[in-house]
Amino acid sequence: MYTYEILRYPDKRLFIKAIKVSESEFGSEGLHDIVDKMFKTMSRYKGIGLAATQVDIHKRIIVIELDDNKYVIINPEIVNKSETLTSSREGCLSVPQVYGEVSRPDSISLHYQDLKGENNYIDADGLLATCIQHEIDHLNGIVYVDRMKGLKKSMLLKKYEKMNKY
Ligand code: NI
Repeated sequence: MYTYEILRYPDKRLFIKAIKVSESEFGSEGLHDIVDKMFKTMSRYKGIGLAATQVDIHKRIIVIELDDNKYVIINPEIVNKSETLTSSREGCLSVPQVYGEVSRPDSISLHYQDLKGENNYIDADGLLATCIQHEIDHLNGIVYVDRMKGLKKSMLLKKYEKMNKY
C-alpha cells in the first residue's frame, strides 16, 4: 500500500507552521497525488481527518472523510465562528490510543480552495466543525493535546507514554 508514515507526537515536525498551496500547484499531478495518498493513509489508520503536516508535508492541505462525504480542504480560512463553545472528546492519528476533551466554537464558516483552486464556502457544525478546527490547528503547528491544561493534560500524556512504549 502506498501510504505515508504519520508523525507521532511530540515529533518536532508537528510544530511547523504550514505554508499556503500556491496558485501554480492547483490542478497539478503533484498536488493530486499528495491528496490521494493522504486519503489512503487516513483510511489505513481509520481516521476521519488528516492534515498534511502529520505526514511531514508542510502545506495547507486537509482531507476529511465523514459520513461517506469526502472533503479536500486547501488553504482554509475560518471566516466566522460561533461564540458558543462546545467541548468534545478528540483523538488524533499522531497521538494514538488516547483521547482528550477540547473546547472549541461549535459552528464555523469556512472559506477554502479545492484541488483545482476553485473557491468554496462551507458552514459546519458538530463533528465536522470540530474536525476542521482540529486539522487547521495541525497546519498551524498545534496538536490538540497542547490545548489541554493542567491535570487533564498531564494525565493524558502519562497514559499516552504508557500505551505507546516500544
Ligand atoms: Ni490530529
